[in-house]
Amino acid sequence: MRIAVIGTGYVGLVVGACFAETGNDVVCVDKDAAKIRGLNKGKIPIYEPGLEEIVKRNHAEKRLRFTTSLPEAVQRCAVIFIAVGTPTGEDGSADLKHVLAAATEVAQSMNGYKVIVDKSTVPAGTADLVHSTIARHARHPYAVVSNPEFLKQGAAVDDFLRPDRVVIGTTDTRAADMMRELYRPFTRTGAPIMVMDPASAELCKYAANAMLATRISFMNEIANVCEAFGADVDRVRQAIASDKRIGSAFLFPGVGYGGSCFPKDVKAIIKFSADKKYKFRILQAVEDVNEAQKLRLLTRVDKRFGKKLKGKTFAVWGLAFKPRTDDMREAPAVPLIQGLLARGAKVRAFDPEAMHVARRIFKKQITYARNAYDAIKGADALLVVTEWNEFREPDFERMKKLMNAPVVFDGRNIFDPRQVRELGFSYSSIGRP
Ligand SMILES: NC(=O)c1ccc[n+]([C@@H]2O[C@H](COP(=O)([O-])OP(=O)(O)OC[C@H]3O[C@@H](n4cnc5c(N)ncnc54)[C@H](O)[C@@H]3O)[C@@H](O)[C@H]2O)c1
Repeated sequence: MRIAVIGTGYVGLVVGACFAETGNDVVCVDKDAAKIRGLNKGKIPIYEPGLEEIVKRNHAEKRLRFTTSLPEAVQRCAVIFIAVGTPTGEDGSADLKHVLAAATEVAQSMNGYKVIVDKSTVPAGTADLVHSTIARHARHPYAVVSNPEFLKQGAAVDDFLRPDRVVIGTTDTRAADMMRELYRPFTRTGAPIMVMDPASAELCKYAANAMLATRISFMNEIANVCEAFGADVDRVRQAIASDKRIGSAFLFPGVGYGGSCFPKDVKAIIKFSADKKYKFRILQAVEDVNEAQKLRLLTRVDKRFGKKLKGKTFAVWGLAFKPRTDDMREAPAVPLIQGLLARGAKVRAFDPEAMHVARRIFKKQITYARNAYDAIKGADALLVVTEWNEFREPDFERMKKLMNAPVVFDGRNIFDPRQVRELGFSYSSIGRP
């Protein structure tokens, strides 16, 4: 099939590359000319495991192309995915301006029957809105499909190639059949393709992200209560995880969730529920807990060092909102570092992939270390903010020699409290004595 993907970001690039990988002819469109120029020269704009290889291979084999010309892509293709951003608007809603701008341009460029697929995360009712937006300009038949994307950054390629399920929201049988055909290679292991009405499909994505965010905030609160009682959240977590009704995923406490999806999707569901006069009380609490949790390590720092940190240096391990990505959108590291800087501290930071992103955010305000050990040189304390594997088994003796004082605030519970304390560190983590 000939497929156009509009928006070549974290989702669009993965979707385009994976559809090309199964033999389709794919053209990825973006209005960011520098990004498209880079991609045409083999420069991958984001870090995502396995992505570079399939982009380069399919580009070389001419199944995957990149352009800034949306009309050319639309005219060439039968199926058009819209995978542009849906950022948080001023009132917390999902801002649909990019989706509707793309839909308008698609409508103006159509030269025959097209299936237009909303891949972006959009509130219930958006498929109807896209439909009416296109109707204003289109002179050819078309169908609108909602096809939310469930991939997670850090494992996006794998998730797309081996989805747990595919959700297709449409009442148009021809479009549903085309979508089934497109996804068949990815669902041979038996993953279901679920066809439903567009509004239900749109809500699936928000419900999934809201549930996962709820589990994280819930466990962060359990961890905070554990601290109050001197209990160990790891013990509690393992005990409840072995209950089949609960399961083990998304039960790790930490410094809060971040990224481009959970924060904005939780806000959006609160807002669109409120628009229908429904107050989503649980999710308001989930959000409040998360905001407070992001500053939990800072409160610890205040307790130990006071609020004036002039002359003190803090090392930060991990800047991306989670491991195996370079994405720092809504990353807990950002408010944490801002808090340290506001108290007069110096910050030396390291992340295996996100340094180039951090440079754009913090400019000359912090020091960018070459590696994890370089970050802790002369540091009065280390804050672990992202649980990259390479931080898990460090040379603690070397750390002690490099640091000004052996103090660790572990926001991701990656070290064994007894072991590091025996080695002479002052150590605190989340929800563990
Ligand atoms: N990032 C994730 O893990 C993830 C997972 C599932 C769903 N989603 C959803 O997918 C959507 C895209 O997310 P993302 O993280 O890929 O965003 P992104 O910001 O990385 O990428 C969006 C891209 O769209 C381009 N764009 C915007 N308007 C355009 C237009 N009119 N024409 C051409 N290009 C245009 C931008 O230049 C940008 O490159 C969002 O709705 C998001 O919620 C994201």
